Amino acid sequence: MGQPSVLSPTLLFLLLLLFPLSLSWGQRSNPEGENPSCDRCNQRLSCNCSYGGFDRVPTVTERALTLDLSFNNIAVVTDDDLRGHDRLRVLNLRGNRLVEIQPAAFASLWSLEELDLSDNQLTALNYTWFNKLGALQKLNLLNNPYKSLGSPPVFQGLVRLRRLGFGGAALEELRRGDLAGVTQLEELTVHANNLRRYEPGTLADIWPLGRVTLSLHGPFLTDPPLAAAVLHDVAYPETPMVLSDLHLIRNESIQPLRETAGKRVRSMTLRNLSVSDEGIVNLLMVCNGVPLTSLFVDDVVLTGEGRWERAKWTDQKSIDEFYVRNAVVLDVWKFVSFLELRFLLQYPRRVSVIGVRMFVIPCQTTHLLVNLQYLDLSDNLLTDLTLEESLCKGDGTMKDLRVLNISGNALKSLSVLSQLVTKLSKLTHLDVSRNGYSSMPPSCSWPSTLRYLNLSRSKLTTVTPCLPSTLEVLDLSNNDLNVFLLALPLLRELHLTGNKFLRLPPGWLFPSLQTLTIESNTLSMFGRSDLQSYRRLQSLKAGQNKFVCSCEFVYFLQSDIKGEGAVDLMDGAEGYVCDSPLYLQGEPVGQVRLSVVECHRVTFVSVSCGLALLTGILLIVLLWRLHAFWYLKMTWAWLRAKRSAASRRRRRLGDGGDAEPLLRYDAFVSYSERDASWVEEFLVPELEDQRENNGDAANTQDPRPLSLCLHKRDFLPGQWIVDNIMSAMERSRRTVFILSENFVRSDWCRYELDFSHFRLFDGMADGDAAILILLEPLAKDDIPKRFCKLRKLMSSTTYLEWPQEEERRAEFWKNLRYALRGEDEEEKEE
Ligand SMILES: *[C@@H]1O[C@H](CO)[C@@H](O)[C@H](O)[C@H]1NC(C)=O
Ligand SMILES: *[C@@H]1O[C@H](CO)[C@@H](O)[C@H](O)[C@H]1NC(C)=O
Ligand SMILES: *[C@@H]1O[C@H](CO)[C@@H](O)[C@H](O)[C@H]1NC(C)=O
Ligand SMILES: *[C@@H]1O[C@H](CO)[C@@H](O)[C@H](O)[C@H]1NC(C)=O
Repeated sequence: MGQPSVLSPTLLFLLLLLFPLSLSWGQRSNPEGENPSCDRCNQRLSCNCSYGGFDRVPTVTERALTLDLSFNNIAVVTDDDLRGHDRLRVLNLRGNRLVEIQPAAFASLWSLEELDLSDNQLTALNYTWFNKLGALQKLNLLNNPYKSLGSPPVFQGLVRLRRLGFGGAALEELRRGDLAGVTQLEELTVHANNLRRYEPGTLADIWPLGRVTLSLHGPFLTDPPLAAAVLHDVAYPETPMVLSDLHLIRNESIQPLRETAGKRVRSMTLRNLSVSDEGIVNLLMVCNGVPLTSLFVDDVVLTGEGRWERAKWTDQKSIDEFYVRNAVVLDVWKFVSFLELRFLLQYPRRVSVIGVRMFVIPCQTTHLLVNLQYLDLSDNLLTDLTLEESLCKGDGTMKDLRVLNISGNALKSLSVLSQLVTKLSKLTHLDVSRNGYSSMPPSCSWPSTLRYLNLSRSKLTTVTPCLPSTLEVLDLSNNDLNVFLLALPLLRELHLTGNKFLRLPPGWLFPSLQTLTIESNTLSMFGRSDLQSYRRLQSLKAGQNKFVCSCEFVYFLQSDIKGEGAVDLMDGAEGYVCDSPLYLQGEPVGQVRLSVVECHRVTFVSVSCGLALLTGILLIVLLWRLHAFWYLKMTWAWLRAKRSAASRRRRRLGDGGDAEPLLRYDAFVSYSERDASWVEEFLVPELEDQRENNGDAANTQDPRPLSLCLHKRDFLPGQWIVDNIMSAMERSRRTVFILSENFVRSDWCRYELDFSHFRLFDGMADGDAAILILLEPLAKDDIPKRFCKLRKLMSSTTYLEWPQEEERRAEFWKNLRYALRGEDEEEKEE
């Protein structure tokens, strides 16, 4: 009892030593941030991280609904790897290197419906993995190296489980209770090729059972009673049975099938089978009188020669469907004819012999198939010639035949074909796809019942009236067609995918058409009107074409994608991609944004031209309102005048600089034409004519008459008026402006005024060179704004007002003369 106390310090020491070590080990194995991440998730929150080279579970968004981690190198799923993924529905870990799944790894996956752990290295299953997966419906544990399912029962809590697969090459043992909790299944798959021990009843409690697939290679071969025990537990009449990997050579190895026969199983599939003649004979014996209706054989190697007539006496009446695909007959040259097999061939209504390298059915054998309604001979080596033999030259044998599938053979002539089938008076479906038909004859004869014709993957370049007008479904995909101009009034489905159509065929040819597929052609566009010509069209697939993304097409398709059109785009918007214009190449049509400029070019151009015109007009009106033209004219005139003035001055200086003789006038009179009467009646006589002034007192002082320059009288004819004005002003000492309403309205007067102003600043004369005479009262504010010069003059220069009263006029003249002359005197004084 004292020992623990002695040990405890050592223990403590050891613990202290180990604690940090274990802590660091824990961190390394499960560091929070170190997991790689995978962002290959789509809008539907399905994350495809398959083949990503991950060696641990990558982190993905917690909102993910589907997580595909198949075919990576993940070895361990830790408790933390999938924490928080409580929305995940599907988890696929197939094909990794899983050796360990920690007990609580799936603990938070409450919503998980599908879990695939197949093809890993799990040597044992742990019931704690599945504890919390109450929603799980589908569980795949196939091909892991566990030897048994283990206990406690692993599937106990999976109440919703409907599809289950388990087993593998290592599975040795199945015990009663292993499948406790699994009650009903839609599908059960057990790989038990090496099963050694089976407790009868282990699989017996699963019912109803939808479909069962068993691989029991070893038990059938070495322990038939064990195989029989397994079959006994899962065989039910309505449960299709799939048995794979069987090697049915000897009589004993067939015997377990007595169980299925005894349980009256109706549908049996043998997959990956190798069988001898003896095996087949015994099988037929086992099936004697059994209500087996469908026998499917997929991937079979036949080691015999077809000598099955020893089972001739058996009753195979119930066999309705016989299907064999991918059969290899080892001794094909020794193979006997089927003629002895009347006991087998007269019953089935459906026969499929697919991919067995068959090149002919002898006509005699064909005659045996009296019940036949459905014949599928696809993927064989039939030619026109051997088909002729097989269909007995078209004599109408197999009179009940409704479906004939000879897809994937080596047929070349449609006219031969049509002759061969024309007497099959019940034929509705004819599949001759994947043959070598390269041309279509102008006319053909078909049974009037033909509704479905599949001519896809041929080499047809044209369509002719050879096609029967009774067709409801026509598949011409993957040919070399570019036009289709043939009316098919009953056609409901037309498949033209993979051809060279540049545009949709006209819809009025197909008044009943409901489905049209025309993907992967060279369509450049289609529109509402094209589709409207198809009166009944409901679904369309037209993706993967060379679309020209015009505005019309883009608008049409976008409204259709939104579901506003009458036709559904069944292939989804992703397939519709612009091919041109170049800058839109590769862009999905549904996401293209075209600008208004591109889409309404004509409208845009006309509207912008109209706007420009309107703006122009507005501008002109505005300029006119602001008298811009007048200013312009003015500026130009001023520039010209200035230039000529400058040249005149140069000339004058060159002449010797005597300016005086040039002053020929005392004053230049600027007046409006309308005021001419006043000038002529009053001004000129008063100033130029001396007689008038005889009685005046001032007369004595001023004997000399004044000379005036009047444009009417003194302007040189033939000269530009502005030049005339300019020189008149230059040659006059003063400028007299006769101001009146008329003056304000006259353009020329305005020029004159302005020139006088330039002169003032040219330094030719002093500030009083201009004399203003107001003929009528004119308030400064009445003068328009643009007469800024005049307004300035009126405020800087005193002006003389023409008095209306007679008696005050003498005073006026006196003042005027004084103004005109006063400066004269000053000049003389100088
Ligand atoms: C077919 O069955 C044999 C055993 O008879 C087996 O070795 C082989 O792997 C199986 N093939 C497939 C593809 O399952
Ligand atoms: C095969 O074995 C069963 C029982 O073991 C026997 O009844 C049957 O006759 C045998 N078949 C042949 C062809 O030997
Ligand atoms: C004919 O066989 C091919 C290939 O096996 C298949 O794809 C096609 O659906 C079949 N046609 C009919 C009408 O059953
Ligand atoms: C026509 O045959 C091809 C190839 O056999 C097949 O893929 C296609 O589904 C068939 N078309 C129709 C409409 O069944």
